[in-house]
Amino acid sequence: MKKMIPDFEKMKHVGERISMLTAYDYPSAQLVEETGVDTILVGDSLGMVVLGYDSTVPVTMEEMLHHTKAVRRGAMETFVIADMPFMSYATLDLAIMNAGRLIKEGGADAVKLEGGLDIVPIVKILTRTGIPVVGHIGLTPQTASQLGGFKVQGRDLNSARQLLEDGQALEQAGAFLLVLEAIPRQVAAQISTGLKIPTIGIGAGLDCDGQVLVFHDILGLFKRFKPKFVKQYAQLRLEGVQAIQEYHKEVKTGLFPSEEHTFGLSDEVIQKLYGD
Ligand code: KIV
Repeated sequence: MKKMIPDFEKMKHVGERISMLTAYDYPSAQLVEETGVDTILVGDSLGMVVLGYDSTVPVTMEEMLHHTKAVRRGAMETFVIADMPFMSYATLDLAIMNAGRLIKEGGADAVKLEGGLDIVPIVKILTRTGIPVVGHIGLTPQTASQLGGFKVQGRDLNSARQLLEDGQALEQAGAFLLVLEAIPRQVAAQISTGLKIPTIGIGAGLDCDGQVLVFHDILGLFKRFKPKFVKQYAQLRLEGVQAIQEYHKEVKTGLFPSEEHTFGLSDEVIQKLYGD
């Protein structure tokens, strides 16, 4: 049964861990829904793993909408969260308009935004407008260059304290879920125990209330790099290459298509068509 917002807080309350996985299109959403994963994130990581950009920065609203719609069609019974792309929430007006589009046109159940105290006014106005918001702190890929690259965050006292404050501020502003990316396990644990809303970790250790990973990472479909926090549960890229090599060989050697994959005509029609 489709999870709803109160279910996530209940899960935290009873100690049931929340599973989240990204999906970006119809077949990946169908696969994820079949497994019973609690919620799907249409992450702007799609810019890197399916569109081939170098970062998530170039991802546009139109691209997010396009992929969110496909995911919704593939996973009608799953709670879907859509990422707001870089610059789509740079002002309050832009945030309301674009978040509204992801919900109304894209079919998302909630939107996710990167940032801490700085985005509190945006989170407040979205939640007051009726748009459910997921926060995202720690390593925030849209502003990774300001953070000095794709690095673990919250390792020194000041930045750890800042993350704790950010978490509190986002909860008070109305966020109902909080993604913690690439932060030390102890900091994530303290944020998680201090909040009523569930935390979802990615590279933030086992003490978060749930976990999220990228679809292409866990299936071994993305070859450019593999962060330390990624566990590959399959090597589908290798299997895919082998299958395509086989197809290529069979086309070249005439082994494909065989009779099994070919349509024929009855002798009677052949005779009428070509005569004697
Ligand atoms: O874009 C994304 O996939 C994300 C997750 C890594 C949390 O934001």
